[in-house]
Amino acid sequence: MNKITPETIRSSKRIHHGIVALTAYDYPTARILDEAGIDLLLVGDSLGMTVLGHPDTTHVQLEEVIHHTRAVARGTSAALLVADLPIHSYDDADQAVASSKRLIDAGAHAVKLEGGQACSAQIRAITTAGIPFVGHIGMLPQHVREEGGYRIKGRTAEQRKFLLDDARAVEESGGFAVVLELIDPVAAAEITRAVSIPTIGIGSGAGCDGQILVFHDLVGYFPWFRPKHVKAEGDVAGEIRKAARAYIERTRTK
Ligand code: KIV
Repeated sequence: MNKITPETIRSSKRIHHGIVALTAYDYPTARILDEAGIDLLLVGDSLGMTVLGHPDTTHVQLEEVIHHTRAVARGTSAALLVADLPIHSYDDADQAVASSKRLIDAGAHAVKLEGGQACSAQIRAITTAGIPFVGHIGMLPQHVREEGGYRIKGRTAEQRKFLLDDARAVEESGGFAVVLELIDPVAAAEITRAVSIPTIGIGSGAGCDGQILVFHDLVGYFPWFRPKHVKAEGDVAGEIRKAARAYIERTRTK
């Protein structure tokens, strides 16, 4: 079994090996995905919606990400385990480093936060502390309330320049990869060509160096909402309903 490291992810750009990433929030899912050969598992703050039932990620606490990171770490052998810094866990550089250390202590190999130029000081502090870092630019779910929804970024020249500067800020501050969320595919491909670190897209087209999806979206385990960019490969919700109905049937019919 080859262990995936930040260096493996970084070098995949040079050798054109597509990075395959998924979120995971618990032990059995992490173990199954790890055994299936997923390169990177993210304990995303999307757990706020997928697992905890909040309307968005802005309710997620650092303690909750730590709790789920511990579970995912127990199920991860080969994949690189990245954990999200939730909102208000990196308001300044000192807090960013302290929060990152707690995620690493919980078993994460690297951390991720949302923002490029605006978070350069935090990113620089994290990487200077020796903690591997993944950036996240484009649509930033922790800002969904100010933004008023999940909208595609990079459709104007001004936005494209801003996003490119964000990607460069992550690269220059020592990040080893950057997630591009809901970025216009042409702009995402442009960013991918412009930076030396790999881009991992979500809803940003096929021109990125890799792709990440929310696990529940991929397997059909969150039937109440599915983003447009997702092609579900399963119907876990349907299977659970079927099993529950079969159990109800056989238990009630005596
Ligand atoms: O929290 C999350 O699931 C994420 C992905 C959307 C990349 O950050």
